[in-house]
Amino acid sequence: MAEISVIEHIHSMQLKWSPTATGQFTSLLHDLILSAKIISRSVTKAGLVDILGGTGDINVQGEQVQKLDDFANSVMIYRMKNCGVVCALGSEEEDELVIIDKDKAYGNYVIFFDPLDGSSNIDANVSIGTIFSIYRVNDDTELTKEKILCQGTNQVAAGYFLYGPSTMMVYSTGHGVYGFTLDPSVGEFLLSHENIKIPETGKYYSANAAYYDRWSNEDKKAMDLFNHGDYSLRYVGSLVADFHRTLLYGGIYMYPADTKNTHGKLRLLYEANPLSFLMEQAGGLAVNGEGKRILEIMPEQIHTRTPFIFGSKKEVEKYRSAFN
Ligand code: AHG
Ligand code: MN
Ligand code: MN
Repeated sequence: MAEISVIEHIHSMQLKWSPTATGQFTSLLHDLILSAKIISRSVTKAGLVDILGGTGDINVQGEQVQKLDDFANSVMIYRMKNCGVVCALGSEEEDELVIIDKDKAYGNYVIFFDPLDGSSNIDANVSIGTIFSIYRVNDDTELTKEKILCQGTNQVAAGYFLYGPSTMMVYSTGHGVYGFTLDPSVGEFLLSHENIKIPETGKYYSANAAYYDRWSNEDKKAMDLFNHGDYSLRYVGSLVADFHRTLLYGGIYMYPADTKNTHGKLRLLYEANPLSFLMEQAGGLAVNGEGKRILEIMPEQIHTRTPFIFGSKKEVEKYRSAFN
């Protein structure tokens, strides 16, 4: 069988769906993939070099910054700023949106990312990842925050890199979801998961059940629909890993609002939107605590958070039934 590299796959998708493409998107993906390979290299060697533990700083999210968070963020910012086709970027680790000088960027792409997802798992060698969300602005006038903030339905592509037992890239440009596995012997991501579809139903449910007391009565009721022997509990605590398992095996993931995180913990632009785009492309559902489609939420600001529930159709509908 021919081994299909990710860039070859992007080219073939463009020929099929956007034959007039200029090559900018491929160029962006190329640099994004290079960033992930560099991050993956450090993640793999983390125990051997001085890159575990915290930096002592607290980020804009009010969370402790790990050295690998910091490293991944610098790699992503440097590559995206200098790839030539990104005109603005937003990172979970940065206070503000970064608008790139016109003399450095000729492209119209905007990218949001969570440079390293699953910080609390880094030092324990548990799977972590990088999540990305890409938009295109079709307007050559000066960029403003207002022009950039829009609903997730406008994403032109989204995906993630998973640094697990193997390093994977999963992406969608709105024409299905494809998974690639990094073959370290050739240094390329090769197609391993063709047109991924989430099972209509699955036996796993995933939530931080220790927060049960902090949830609303409706969320408690929803949780009770799954917290029995017909289901099995899985919770890694790295969203990207919990998402990947749910995508492949089916079931449901829930991170509702609670008394501590009254708007939910997960971030709309860096986490919920890109993963919802993939989830819907794979035939699943992704909603907030009121059962509203995540991709239709208008962000109030770049660090907006949201309750996030996603998974197989059957289980997400079941979650919604707790609210009737
Ligand atoms: P990040 O490491 O990017 O800050 O994200 C952490 C998130 C997510 O990965 C995970 O699913 C969730 O936090 C876990 O939160 P709890 O510890 O509250 O369960
Ligand atoms: Mn995260
Ligand atoms: Mn993060």
